[in-house]
Amino acid sequence: MPIIHHHIASLRDTLKHYRSQQRIALVPTMGNLHDGHLALVTLAKQHADIVVVSIFVNPTQFGVGEDFNSYPRMLEADVAKLTTVGTDYVFAPTSDEMYPILPLPTSIHAGAITTQLCGQTRPTHFDGVGIVVSKLFNIVQPNVAIFGQKDYQQLAIIKQLVRDLSYPIDIITAPIVRATDGLALSSRNQYLSPEERNIAPLLQQELQRLAQQFTASQHTQKGFEALIVEASKRITAAGFIVDYLEVKTAELEALNSKSAKPTTGSQDLIIVVAAWLGRARLLDNLLVTIY
Ligand code: PAF
Repeated sequence: MPIIHHHIASLRDTLKHYRSQQRIALVPTMGNLHDGHLALVTLAKQHADIVVVSIFVNPTQFGVGEDFNSYPRMLEADVAKLTTVGTDYVFAPTSDEMYPILPLPTSIHAGAITTQLCGQTRPTHFDGVGIVVSKLFNIVQPNVAIFGQKDYQQLAIIKQLVRDLSYPIDIITAPIVRATDGLALSSRNQYLSPEERNIAPLLQQELQRLAQQFTASQHTQKGFEALIVEASKRITAAGFIVDYLEVKTAELEALNSKSAKPTTGSQDLIIVVAAWLGRARLLDNLLVTIY
């Protein structure tokens, strides 16, 4: 069973004994854990000797009217799950421990990358992610940190943060874990009604279909856009409200007809989608290489 720390000082005091000899991994979470999170821990164990999982529903990354108050908090059940995958430490601070003052006068803003995709409807979200992840990095000082590919934009922002602020931390990407019907696992899937849960895998099916169409198409921006419009219509017809469905380079640059039409070699693209189904805002993505 992992040892739980609620205070920064006690966690730091414990971890300092490992630093010189052993590698420490951090798996940041907001709790309400599912198999996708447990896969992050399993991956962390392959890269480090000591695994710390943080569980903190971070108020600064929720916007006004979002689900901060109703976000499920279930520390005991989460710790039981973490025991099954050999977690060493859980860091579960209170909001006061993390943020003695709110709103925080200090900010971390990762620039243009935060205003696209999810940032269009959640303009302050990634500033909140940036500040909490920076704090967790400073508190735990891990050698490696694991983030899931499902939150692709978050992952890109964390990589930028590590580069720009010179954190000596390797960022490891964990593949998306899916239910047997293809739905990407997410804490927010539990907001789906049984009927919505049956419809939800369509999102992943449409990404697959787009990937196939892209590899078969002429690789022009115009071609991609027409295919995206068609896919978006099908997703909407199934009952979703599409927040965005876009194709970008794997670095999250916008495509232009030049970059999307490689004359030499291959190009890695990412198809990213966010769509509401009832109360749940679902995210998914698929990397595709075009030749
Ligand atoms: O991906 C999440 O669960 C959160 O955004 C994170 C990285 C734990 C920061 O609160």
